[in-house]
Amino acid sequence: MVTIQNQSIPVIVDTDGGVDDALALIMALNSPQLDLQAITVVAGNINVDQAANNVLRVVSIVQADTLPIVAKGCEKPLVKPPFNAAGIHGADGLGELDQFKEADGTPRYPHLTIAPSTEDAIALILKTAQKYGDRLTIIALGPLTNLATAIQKDSTTMKTIGQIIIMGGAVTVPGNISAAAEFNFFVDPDAAQVVMESGIPLTLVGLDVAMKAPLPRQMVEENLQQRPSKITQFILDCTGIYMAFYRDNEGFYGCYLHDPLAMAVAIDASLVKTESLHIVVETEGRFTTGMSLADRRDRRDEKTNPPNVEACLDVDTERFFKLFNQLV
Ligand code: RIB
Ligand code: CA
Repeated sequence: MVTIQNQSIPVIVDTDGGVDDALALIMALNSPQLDLQAITVVAGNINVDQAANNVLRVVSIVQADTLPIVAKGCEKPLVKPPFNAAGIHGADGLGELDQFKEADGTPRYPHLTIAPSTEDAIALILKTAQKYGDRLTIIALGPLTNLATAIQKDSTTMKTIGQIIIMGGAVTVPGNISAAAEFNFFVDPDAAQVVMESGIPLTLVGLDVAMKAPLPRQMVEENLQQRPSKITQFILDCTGIYMAFYRDNEGFYGCYLHDPLAMAVAIDASLVKTESLHIVVETEGRFTTGMSLADRRDRRDEKTNPPNVEACLDVDTERFFKLFNQLV
């Protein structure tokens, strides 16, 4: 799909309110190419109430002129028990912001005075899909529970949308939360499979490309020094625990920019190289639940296993970081 340069794209961002989600939301709020219609929230990194609060925190810091609607969705996966990543993103999902004080001792991140919409996220997704049809892009940054529920409720409407850009899965590389599975697909594999078989145009931004774009702690520190602002201060603060996890477990002091890369693909699809693949998500495997399995056999049967996903397998890291630093 060719995007006319001067026409912004109507988008919904569906998010589970973690640290890299917050960085992606800052990009979305600052991007003239995206017309942010709504931010819908799903349980994943943290529970849905805290995730909504985290989204509102980001919106309040970016102080977007027109505050997007923030609507809460599913509190737990379609079938599996709830599973979160508080140990990675911090107890609040956003680096435990209560710890930060100003010089005078007042909280740097005081309690919020804005609240999420009373509108249900699923209803909002369907209403927006009915309004924009094939002009709408949904950018999914968490488990796909909200989108799968919307598809189960009204697949006809959902199949009219332009595309879903999904941060999730791992096609040619191991998982992250298990040897087989990426976190978003692990938390709700049933929802991921509902989306895979929906017939909606899908772009998968998986670990194959997300792990090619590590953000060094030093870059975050330099950004704050060179261009001090509420946003660069927030990014330094909210990434502290997340980056310490990577330092202690992945061997580098920084973090992967999973969700910001999915957001970047929505802004400029030329950043990635994709392969049309038939992908399914394992929902029952004792060791492989959440695995995104691509049929890459030369003799794959096109009739029984037609391509259903544009899977991102390579990324122009330099151009991605240029865009990321322009928007945060
Ligand atoms: O596996 C990484 C994904 O899981 C990211 O979206 C991160 O925010 C978590 O949701
Ligand atoms: Ca996420």
